[in-house]
Amino acid sequence: MEERIISSEANQSEISLEQSLRPQNLKQYIGQTQVKENLEVFIEAARLRKETLDHVLLYGPPGLGKTTLAVIIANEMGVNIRTTSGPAIERPGDLAAILTALEPGDVLFIDEIHRLPRSIEEVLYPAMEDFCLDIVIGKGPSARSVRLDLPPFTLVGATTRAGSLSAPLRDRFGVLSRLEYYKEDQLKNIVLRTAELFQTDIDEQSAMEIARRARGTPRIANRLLRRVRDFAQVKGNGTIHLTLAMEALDLLQVDRLGLDHIDHKLLKGIIEKFRGGPVGLDTIAASIGEESETIEDVYEPYLLQIGFLQRTPRGRVVTQAVYDHFGMEVPEK
Ligand code: ADE
Repeated sequence: MEERIISSEANQSEISLEQSLRPQNLKQYIGQTQVKENLEVFIEAARLRKETLDHVLLYGPPGLGKTTLAVIIANEMGVNIRTTSGPAIERPGDLAAILTALEPGDVLFIDEIHRLPRSIEEVLYPAMEDFCLDIVIGKGPSARSVRLDLPPFTLVGATTRAGSLSAPLRDRFGVLSRLEYYKEDQLKNIVLRTAELFQTDIDEQSAMEIARRARGTPRIANRLLRRVRDFAQVKGNGTIHLTLAMEALDLLQVDRLGLDHIDHKLLKGIIEKFRGGPVGLDTIAASIGEESETIEDVYEPYLLQIGFLQRTPRGRVVTQAVYDHFGMEVPEK
């Protein structure tokens, strides 16, 4: 997969930078109003009852702030957070080691929880339900099961694919929260907040232009802001104004809707090779040299969200909006 400025995945160099920009409490967190309001009530109720918060499952596209929310939940509850991910836990012993090291009330954050092996999920069930671990000691006829008590904890799971989670695991979460793409106005406020942390001068119009091209995703908005800030520093006097922001964003080849050359290749491919569809996912993938899974998980969600693509039983179809965006005529069928 090519490196994209508008990728919603964090690259290695961004991880620690994101941590330093991250809002630390619900008050600082912009957007996801519904999720935030619910969490506020559940956190307050758990605090009043001096109980741990119910297990929380956060799901939705990458880059929308699932890790940030997990950190905020721990901060708001006044507890520590331990972080791991589905693919990092290979054996039941790995999970047992993490669980037995928790302090009472801690948040355990498991990113990409849909990638947890089944054998590990089974260790997790009694841990989530009864705060205990059933471990088998020994092998063969002398094997016996030992029950180990765990401190009460809150599991916060994050996934981009709620549908890939097994039903028994999903059912053990008391709170299920779906994160949505952000509105432009919310992204604008995130850009203004981040610019302030960077001590960079930016006007509202430029922040809005970055927001418009950020595909509903704070991670992309902040990445575009960093590139535009570089441009302002080298080509201007450090201040970001609209002409400069537009020029920088055009140079980054991110168009007015946040689409890049890969989106263009995908959409134009469907138009030019398949008369706008319907065409099957695998056929599209082969025709542009990408994996079907990458198209489905990475490229498509935003194109579906903005109404540029439709999924039909006979395959993908581009909509009128795509022809309008490219200034193309809709072909006769
Ligand atoms: N930075 C990244 N995401 C954010 C959010 N949702 N609120 C405030 N700042 C952010």
